[in-house]
Amino acid sequence: MVSEQTSPRMAVSLGGIEMRNPVNTASGTFGNGEQFESFYDVGATLGAITCKGVSAEPWDGNPAPRLAELGGSAILNSVGLQNPGVHGFVERYGTYLESVKSRGCAVICQVAGHSVEEYVRAMDLFEELAPFAAGFEINISCPNIAAGGAAMGATPASAAEVMRAVRPHTTRPVVVKMAPHDVAEIGRALEAEGADALALINTIPGMAIDVRTRRSRVCRPTAGVSGPAIHAIAVRMVWECAKAVNIPLCGIGGVASGADAAEMILAGATAVSVGTANLYDPGCAARVVAELEQWVCDQGVTDVNELIGAFE
Ligand SMILES: Cc1cc2nc3c(=O)[nH]c(=O)nc-3n(C[C@H](O)[C@H](O)[C@H](O)COP(=O)(O)O)c2cc1C
Repeated sequence: MVSEQTSPRMAVSLGGIEMRNPVNTASGTFGNGEQFESFYDVGATLGAITCKGVSAEPWDGNPAPRLAELGGSAILNSVGLQNPGVHGFVERYGTYLESVKSRGCAVICQVAGHSVEEYVRAMDLFEELAPFAAGFEINISCPNIAAGGAAMGATPASAAEVMRAVRPHTTRPVVVKMAPHDVAEIGRALEAEGADALALINTIPGMAIDVRTRRSRVCRPTAGVSGPAIHAIAVRMVWECAKAVNIPLCGIGGVASGADAAEMILAGATAVSVGTANLYDPGCAARVVAELEQWVCDQGVTDVNELIGAFE
């Protein structure tokens, strides 16, 4: 007789965003999901998708070149949050995102702004126009125009200011996407202002110089490094942040396999996002779902939640 293996429970709650499994996609690396439907049924497979950052008004983004491949499984990007504004986003993707939701996958809309007022305006528009959103992710790595381009969430005080302003404008769960520095301190400040969950990490600042022309390989001198090369750094930061806060975390950074996702969960993440790996392996997030479930079985537990923070 063939022995039956019961499937483990894979559902998690990311601060009130109910996910059928812990696998999410990282903002900006998955379009808004549509292009990946030819590789697998996105809405029927993933726990959540996180959309590209969207601001109240359209932004142009940076000039080309925006991406450079680095050695050692990393890329450098300087996309600059090009987006069509909330109205344009909903008009273009609303029907598709409704269908993602109806297939049981949580849609997380990412909110961008250059000032506290811009975040609030974008949140108000999303609240009104995006009924398909299970929750929102605030990207506090956007440049603050009033502070000469430093990130909006560069310090615990400035991160807290954004969260405090946005919080009364939605009753849906709010996740904050954190930059890769001071994650314990900034995480505590965000939790105190009512963040429901934290997502970390965003890209790590880096440089790549074309030695022939002596110019940057992308449009700006510094840009964001992502991909498998940053995974170990991201796991360390998730572990540090998990020890500092009591709200759930979404682990991001170089996740390309079930084992990478499992490391994030053991370090303390409730959910995990696949980012750059989507760009070179479009079926990656679906494979991570299957490999993660196999790992939970292999660990001999019946619920993935038992393994969150189970690093020994
Ligand atoms: C091309 C590109 C665009 C990105 N756009 C965004 C964005 O709009 N908002 C955001 O918070 N992060 C953005 N990111 C950062 C990713 O969401 C993720 O945090 C980072 O790439 C680390 O994960 P990874 O190593 O798995 O890619 C972008 C990354 C890349 C490579």
